[in-house]
Amino acid sequence: MNTKLSITKIQKAKGDRPLTMITAYDALFAKLFDPIADIILVGDSLNMSFGGKKDTLSATLEQMIYHTQAVCNGAQNSFVIADMPFGTYPTAGIALENATRVFQESPADAVKIEGGEEKASTIKHLVDNGIAVCGHIGLLPQSVRGEGGYKIKGKNDSEATQLIADAKAVEKAGAFCIVIEGVKADVATLVAQSVNVPVIGIGAGSGVDGQVLVFSDMLGLFEEFTPKFVKKYLNGADLVKEAVQNYKDEVEARSFPDEIHTY
Ligand code: KIV
Repeated sequence: MNTKLSITKIQKAKGDRPLTMITAYDALFAKLFDPIADIILVGDSLNMSFGGKKDTLSATLEQMIYHTQAVCNGAQNSFVIADMPFGTYPTAGIALENATRVFQESPADAVKIEGGEEKASTIKHLVDNGIAVCGHIGLLPQSVRGEGGYKIKGKNDSEATQLIADAKAVEKAGAFCIVIEGVKADVATLVAQSVNVPVIGIGAGSGVDGQVLVFSDMLGLFEEFTPKFVKKYLNGADLVKEAVQNYKDEVEARSFPDEIHTY
């Protein structure tokens, strides 16, 4: 069984062992991941793989709280981080009101917000008021419409310098760890080396302090598109379709239910 990590233990993992983070959106999958993962992220990516939307932007605070409650019901031992959805942290004050709701209405251990230097004062305000914050720098999915697409970061010196400044500002503001997404591997490694908190990568190479993947991607359940950084550890979609086809075949052949599945 997994022993729940404290923030101190998460921070101490840096330089000791890589951290494993995975998303979950419901109790069913959270319970399966709970004994294995270090951290479960209730990502707003649920808006795409669970909600069928084309990006994360329409996820609401109510939906995030509902899914966080469900994940916490399944995950008794993992450290759970809830994503703050788009539009819920435009100012430090509004961020605190909304993050307070996440903490009051679910047992989440921390929230995650996207942004670097420009979000440092918001992160500090949350941390000063008792909310643990995970930062998120690099490619920011909530900025996809503003930036006109998903843009890999760290492609030149000025982007690399900015990413290091972002990580340092987020750390100084009090974030206990930082997700770094869609960044050239050599730059992500430098970013991880420039701060004392764990930097957890997604599409950021292996030189960081841990990895995070969206569960429906790594289980091969999400078929719409597969980013380059996703490794499918299971052919989930094929297995599910095969199972449902077998069920249908047996229903039509009246071979299900058979004797052992009948009262
Ligand atoms: O929403 C999410 O799942 C995330 C991960 C991509 C890190 O933020």
